[in-house]
Amino acid sequence: MLDLDIKIIKTENPKEKPTDESTLGFGKIFSDHMFIVEYTEGIGWHDARIQPYGPLAIDPASPVLHYSQEIFEGLKVYRRADGGIQMFRPIENARRMNRSAERMVMPQLDEEFQVKAMKMLAEVEQDWVPTREGTSLYLRPTMIAHGAELGVHPAHKYLYYIICSPAGSYYKNGMSPIKIHIEDSYVRAVKGGTGAAKTGGNYSASLKAAYEASKRGFDQVLWLDGKQNKYVEEVGAMNMMFIIDHKLYTAPTGGSILPGITRKSVLRLAEDMGIEVFERPVSVMELYEAYSKGTLQEAFGTGTAAVISPVGLMEYRGDIIKLSDGEIGPIAMAIYNKLTGIQRGNEPDLYNWIERVK
Ligand code: PLP
Ligand code: COI
Repeated sequence: MLDLDIKIIKTENPKEKPTDESTLGFGKIFSDHMFIVEYTEGIGWHDARIQPYGPLAIDPASPVLHYSQEIFEGLKVYRRADGGIQMFRPIENARRMNRSAERMVMPQLDEEFQVKAMKMLAEVEQDWVPTREGTSLYLRPTMIAHGAELGVHPAHKYLYYIICSPAGSYYKNGMSPIKIHIEDSYVRAVKGGTGAAKTGGNYSASLKAAYEASKRGFDQVLWLDGKQNKYVEEVGAMNMMFIIDHKLYTAPTGGSILPGITRKSVLRLAEDMGIEVFERPVSVMELYEAYSKGTLQEAFGTGTAAVISPVGLMEYRGDIIKLSDGEIGPIAMAIYNKLTGIQRGNEPDLYNWIERVK
């Protein structure tokens, strides 16, 4: 592991913690401390510390502000019934961070060191981990290019930091099924682009379609492949799964979608529950045909922030699909229970997915 000490500088002004855990929502409140480590070309990573949460001083000419050389991650710290706290598969986030770094020509940071930093920060912020079912402390590791230079080339200085946010449900209506617009004009990513990297530009590029869909009453946009506009890829913050005739179908991770950690975990759980799993391109036409035959039983999204999010309605070019009578389907429910059971420590960790913090 990278041999770098992490200094801890505690805040002298701790904030009020939220008292009503039922209204947390997602990404609105931030805890007292953050982790930060700096990178300078020719020196490497240096000055790792946990310090009071607060604004970063970056130059207005920082490359991140002009050319979006930025990557990020998302993972959660859960409160166990016995009062302890634990994280779900943090090494997978550290690995994906490094894959994103490679794509965006940013420096890699030792994966075990990243997990050590997450754990130390989670321990410092342990009182910020909520208790209520469906809540957690969301960690957002982020890396940005900084310095001051306007040439279009990889930067020479970077900051890696982690902030924490107590979180409830990602969607405003909790676990209730969402409405999805299948987008046939804008695209999110193409093969050879940055779709498989968790980089900010993918998200800003998706805002217009999501904004237009939200004005028409949809919660999310389901993206199609960028080449033929034919195969379903993923939703803004989730991978998508479809249950057709009791089998599970999901898009392959061929370069344009984010290889979700929840996706990978759900596929494993589904297989172990005896559900047949297919990772292969699924066309919109296939979904509509299955719907008209009555074999499209469920659709749901998977993601760290969104957990398992059932889809109640999908729309493509004005044609509507309604699913599970607007309720949560039985497979989505069973997978949700199993996954969150493991994450919170109520189910045995048969897969070694849990990293205990305390
Ligand atoms: N797809 C996109 C575009 C995302 O932003 C996310 C969220 O991280 C996911 C899928 C799901 O990935 P994970 O399960 O690793 O959170
Ligand atoms: C996550 O689920 O961790 C994500 O990063 C999704 C986010 C874009 C809200």
